[in-house]
Amino acid sequence: MASRTEKSLSEVLDQRRATPSFDGAPIPDSDLKQILEAGLKMPSGYNLQPWRFVVVRTPEGRRRLRAASYNQAKVEEASAVIVACGDKDGWRSDMEEMIRIGREHGMTENYAEGARENIPAFLGNHPNLTAWLNRHVMLAFSGMLLMAEALGYDTAPMEGYEADKVCVVLNLPMSYEVVALLAIGHLKGPDKYDGDRFSMQRLVFDGEYGKPIKL
Ligand SMILES: Cc1cc2nc3c(=O)[nH]c(=O)nc-3n(C[C@H](O)[C@H](O)[C@H](O)COP(=O)(O)O)c2cc1C
Repeated sequence: MASRTEKSLSEVLDQRRATPSFDGAPIPDSDLKQILEAGLKMPSGYNLQPWRFVVVRTPEGRRRLRAASYNQAKVEEASAVIVACGDKDGWRSDMEEMIRIGREHGMTENYAEGARENIPAFLGNHPNLTAWLNRHVMLAFSGMLLMAEALGYDTAPMEGYEADKVCVVLNLPMSYEVVALLAIGHLKGPDKYDGDRFSMQRLVFDGEYGKPIKL
């Protein structure tokens, strides 16, 4: 593949907008692979990687997904839509595989034994698996979004979909929860305005609640 310059992280953060409309040009497999790999490299609790992704690329697939996404045109216009999901049951089957790979890369037997005890104790009776899945899936999702932007694509994160319909369209297993959609492509027409952000003083505290940080 011809080498090209990736945007810096600072450029991505400054320039990214939630893209209102895409031109629909196809995305090369090599770029899609790089984007997906960025997400799969992100960290997760116990390295359990409970995220799952369905990449919707065909015109027919995007059309059906649009119908499950409140008819948002950008779902159909995008080059690809990554449907980010979490698997509530994934950890049961993935734990041994995580340990097997970890052991090949330096995980101690002692750590492995602890993981076999702690993971089922933690997740087998977890009070809010949906929240646990969400925090992981959105981290991987962010990695993909940032890599897509770094490669020169435009992106649109989306929560405007009907989960039960998306499950049917994509034939998802019962244990899957749909967390968000990531549309990727190239901007068509004018970009969205920059709505800017709250000040750091409003959102970040120094040491304890109520003391705005001053940097
Ligand atoms: C998790 C998430 C879900 C979103 N869902 C939608 C959506 O369904 N439709 C839409 O038009 N924009 C959606 N947005 C875009 C936001 O409205 C947008 O990111 C926000 O207004 C800030 O604008 P900016 O991303 O251009 O800075 C979503 C953003 C996030 C992070």
